[in-house]
Amino acid sequence: MAHELHDTAKAIVADHKGILAADESTGTITKRFDSIGVESAEENRRFYRQLLFTAPRMEDSIGGVILYDETIRQSADDGTSFAEVLSAKGVIPGIKVDTGAHEQAGFPGEKVTEGLDGLRERFEEYRGLGARFAKWRAVITIGDGTPTDGNLRANAHALARYAALSQEAGIVPIVEPEVLMDADNSLEVCWEVTTRTLHETFAALYEHGIDLQGTLLKPNMVIPGKGARDQASPEQIAEATVNTFLGVVPAAIPGIVFLSGGQSEVQATENLNAINKIGGPWALSFSYGRALQQSALQGWGGDAANAEAAQAAFVHRARMNALAAAGEWSAALEQPVAA
Ligand code: 13P
Repeated sequence: MAHELHDTAKAIVADHKGILAADESTGTITKRFDSIGVESAEENRRFYRQLLFTAPRMEDSIGGVILYDETIRQSADDGTSFAEVLSAKGVIPGIKVDTGAHEQAGFPGEKVTEGLDGLRERFEEYRGLGARFAKWRAVITIGDGTPTDGNLRANAHALARYAALSQEAGIVPIVEPEVLMDADNSLEVCWEVTTRTLHETFAALYEHGIDLQGTLLKPNMVIPGKGARDQASPEQIAEATVNTFLGVVPAAIPGIVFLSGGQSEVQATENLNAINKIGGPWALSFSYGRALQQSALQGWGGDAANAEAAQAAFVHRARMNALAAAGEWSAALEQPVAA
């Protein structure tokens, strides 16, 4: 079992590949479809995910795809389940298993992620449906007096209990403690909060006996908040990010796969590239949702006639990020996508 977990974790980030986060909940994908004026009907959601998963040569840059509960039960036009479509291309299917972040009682302005009840049985079902890795996202909010230690510990505890159940089922857990970048805080504050968050997270993983070699970490980059007066260069973000992780993330973790968190597509690529120019003892790659899909979503616009152009836009972003995961990206490679 341990070998399988280690092999799966390594395979997802092998050869500078990364992850497509296509696990938007129905609420979130509805927001994305609203932005392009497309109705969030089940068939539209299926069609759009099919477009991504069947994109020619996406497997050159994508080692794993995170699915949502609805999506792992859906199939391509020919009846092949999405999990099989991906596996047949050598792309490992994953599943989001948390049920969302909710206000934590007694902690105004802070959230704790739910979804532990019945999780052992759900893991069993998801494994039967083809999932070989999973995701649980904790949301940490920077604000006046937050995050509190109580909130960090509650989220770390839930992440550790989730990771233990995941490994028990033979499924690699992606542990995602996301410090939001929505506020107006400085890079230094993000550095401090990310350090506290990761300390609590790894203390809990250790306490719960998690096999770190069979675990992937999905963190935020250390970056100023969107509303911060002083923004930072990719080099500053990279230096702060790698230094933070060197202090708190064990080298036993095979891969760190960043979330994009609202960065633009090119910004997320440029920052990942700068991070890999420095490097560390782990694979430093991506698990992007918005930063892999924005152009594809807009290029599609709900019209099947645009499916190929949308696929080309997605594969282009995936390729740019795989190059960034090798530290080999440059702005000159950002050519307009040929239709
Ligand atoms: P973004 O890259 O859009 O932040 O999404 C990644 C993700 O899966 C967050 O949980």
